[in-house]
Amino acid sequence: MEFPDKKPSGFEQNGVIQEVNSSVSLNQRIMDNRPAPSVIVIFGASGDLTKRKLIPALYDLFCKNAMPERFAVLGAARSQLNDDVFRGKMAEDIKSYSENKEHLSDEVISKFVKNLHYISLETENPDDYSRLKTRLDGLDAELKTGGNYIYYLASPPKLYETIAQSLYSQGLSLSNDDSVSKKLIIEKPFGYNLGSALALNQKLLTLFHENQLYRIDHYLGKETVQNVLVLRFANGIFEPLWNRNYVDYVEITAAESIGVENRGGYYDTAGTLRDMVQNHLMQIAGLVAMEPPANFDSTSVRNETIKVFQSLIPIPADRIDDFVVRGQYISSKIRGEQVRGYREENDVNPNSRTETYVGLKFFIDNWRWAGVPFYMRAGKRLPTRVTEVVIHFKKPPQHLFHRDNKEQPGNRLIIRIQPDEGILMKFGMKTPGAGFKTQQVNMDFHYSNLGNINISSAYERLLLDCMSGDSTLYARGDAVEACWRFVDPVLKAWETNPDIKLFGYPSGTWGPVEATGLFGQPDLDWRYPCKNLSDDGNYCEL
Ligand code: BG6
Repeated sequence: MEFPDKKPSGFEQNGVIQEVNSSVSLNQRIMDNRPAPSVIVIFGASGDLTKRKLIPALYDLFCKNAMPERFAVLGAARSQLNDDVFRGKMAEDIKSYSENKEHLSDEVISKFVKNLHYISLETENPDDYSRLKTRLDGLDAELKTGGNYIYYLASPPKLYETIAQSLYSQGLSLSNDDSVSKKLIIEKPFGYNLGSALALNQKLLTLFHENQLYRIDHYLGKETVQNVLVLRFANGIFEPLWNRNYVDYVEITAAESIGVENRGGYYDTAGTLRDMVQNHLMQIAGLVAMEPPANFDSTSVRNETIKVFQSLIPIPADRIDDFVVRGQYISSKIRGEQVRGYREENDVNPNSRTETYVGLKFFIDNWRWAGVPFYMRAGKRLPTRVTEVVIHFKKPPQHLFHRDNKEQPGNRLIIRIQPDEGILMKFGMKTPGAGFKTQQVNMDFHYSNLGNINISSAYERLLLDCMSGDSTLYARGDAVEACWRFVDPVLKAWETNPDIKLFGYPSGTWGPVEATGLFGQPDLDWRYPCKNLSDDGNYCEL
């Protein structure tokens, strides 16, 4: 609650409080809050994640003056490179993968890459970590980074424990001095199933404290995912409706048009349930379903999302088919071009039963959501790339204007996470003319309406948060475990019961038709989104 004598922010003009120009104040805020000097060590520095996401994100932060005043990035990988070669490679990668092409300047890139360093390291060789320590001590002394180190695990997950253990053994994980920070960022997948996630958490907690662990889920770094919180808790009109009394069901979709590309080897051991549902989609569900936090700090926010995960009603092992539909894409023509089926992809077992599509129904057993179904789907080689949340509100109790046509849809609020990021409300209006015919119309907001405001990449936001010591948008250990606890019985049932069907679906379609059966009512189906948020119906650009 704000007390009347509290000075409002902004300035007064003609007796009216004006908001401060937001882009100026954002830049100002970034400069005022630059994180403390630190060294960032990236394990897996020769991998895809480093070149496509991490280095371009750090470069964008550098362009925005948001990097610490003094910092170094130390790439660590097996390849034998020297600093210069690493810098040259990263400069090229920034040009290829930066999401902000307007930031690209040879001069700024060459200034940025001077902060990059490289150490060749055999991850499993303990002696190499004493060389790492020496190198870190040197950079720390040179740059006066106060012993603040961030370790980013962008290496294969099987190496996580070894790296963390070796850092600990070299005295690089803990510090007796509160002003010195050591943080460990752990990429997904965090574990392979419940057992391995529990074991990894337990192991890491013997080497680091929980508040040093930053389990990254890049979906939480997406601007539009965070906007779910703002939409819900910065507006008075939605929250009273956000419950079982008004919401009929909730739909969460993450569709991708690409196949597994060059990641067949990884994907064949993972599948969609592990790759997208256990982490990204469950985190979105957490934000959609959580109670308002007492404060907007990392403990309060994460205390609320964990309650959602702990309230998920377990899917009964003997009724998996009623709640989960899995599919695998098969070869087909997409816009005239023949594409390979999943089993024909490189590094994929030709008899693989790994799913590339999951449709899921679940319930949250709490006061707010009791009885409201949540439907979730994620898949590769679907018609378009779209991630969105749809809140389907209950229909009015009386069909006053639709005596002949009771199938008129209820109101829908669509939160578009990507692409054409925005919010769409669909509601019924009178069709002009005689009588009382109604039609569905749109009320929409597109981020692109904000003009030249540039949406930060998820990695940019999350790396900045970690450097600043803010873990709100990182997954806490108990939340990761709770999500595994929910999906684990499904994985086990799939592994042990060959009778549970894996449906083939032609590439470029919306997954197995059987997934519609999850709704259990003939008049209900998934929303079929278009690339543009406001389009649907007859015209649809995919
Ligand atoms: C990754 C998955 O975590 O997320 C990929 O491993 C998936 O399989 C990707 O393609 C999707 O992320 P985004 O940001 O493109 O929606």
